[in-house]
Amino acid sequence: MTDDAHAAPRGVGVVVVAAGSGQRLGADVPKAFVDVGGRPMLGHALATAAALPGLRSLVVVAPAGMGDPAGAGWRGVEPPPALRVVEGAADRSGSVAAGLAAVDDGCDVVLVHDAARCLTPLAVFERVVAAVRAGADGVVPGLAVVDTVKTVDAGGFVTGTPDRAGLRAVQTPQGFPLALLRAAHASGQVATDDAALVERTGHRVLVVEGDALAFKVTTPEDLERATRLVAGRDHP
Ligand code: CTP
Ligand code: MG
Repeated sequence: MTDDAHAAPRGVGVVVVAAGSGQRLGADVPKAFVDVGGRPMLGHALATAAALPGLRSLVVVAPAGMGDPAGAGWRGVEPPPALRVVEGAADRSGSVAAGLAAVDDGCDVVLVHDAARCLTPLAVFERVVAAVRAGADGVVPGLAVVDTVKTVDAGGFVTGTPDRAGLRAVQTPQGFPLALLRAAHASGQVATDDAALVERTGHRVLVVEGDALAFKVTTPEDLERATRLVAGRDHP
């Protein structure tokens, strides 16, 4: 990490990736545009991101044909001022790369967030930013794993039982110095999260406390849970 990467704070960029189709959810619209208690998942995620102190740049990565915030699919989403929308790619890493290219160069820190983790509390965003500003090369929110985890071979036979105490289930938003994450993505490599790309370039990634509410809406059961949670709170 260079000194430049942690110079005086200049602003936070947030990339919300929303370009997936949501195959496992199986709705008739792309997952981020599925309603959760009165507004699309993307609307929940954007409302939280827009409240982040120090926010300078907010980018949504949308599916092809869904890039117009005035379009019908966005009904119920309040686009914050200075929002930029770009089109996603076939895999998540490609979508993140497209979003990173649109982040204002004046940002020192960037967060990458899944629209599908639509109920992630603002406090998680703030913890991640604080840890990047404190000097970490990469920061991911994570929770201790409650189940015992097995590794298996192709035939389903157990090959090992890692010590649970050393495992974390990680979430988003994941935070990085902007230049460092852009460099990690410049390789065009693919991974299921952004931290993995930064880890591969030899940088150290810190896990901070995540939140149960940052779960990813993946299946219809997850959608029901999210809908119940929104119904139970005093704002939508
Ligand atoms: N995502 C994206 N571009 C892709 C794939 C995923 O922007 N090509 C985003 C999704 O919109 C989501 C986040 O990455 O907010 C996490 O991905 P996931 O939960 O897997 O969403 P989908 O890929 O849409 O769902 P599925 O894998 O069930 O199809
Ligand atoms: Mg997916």
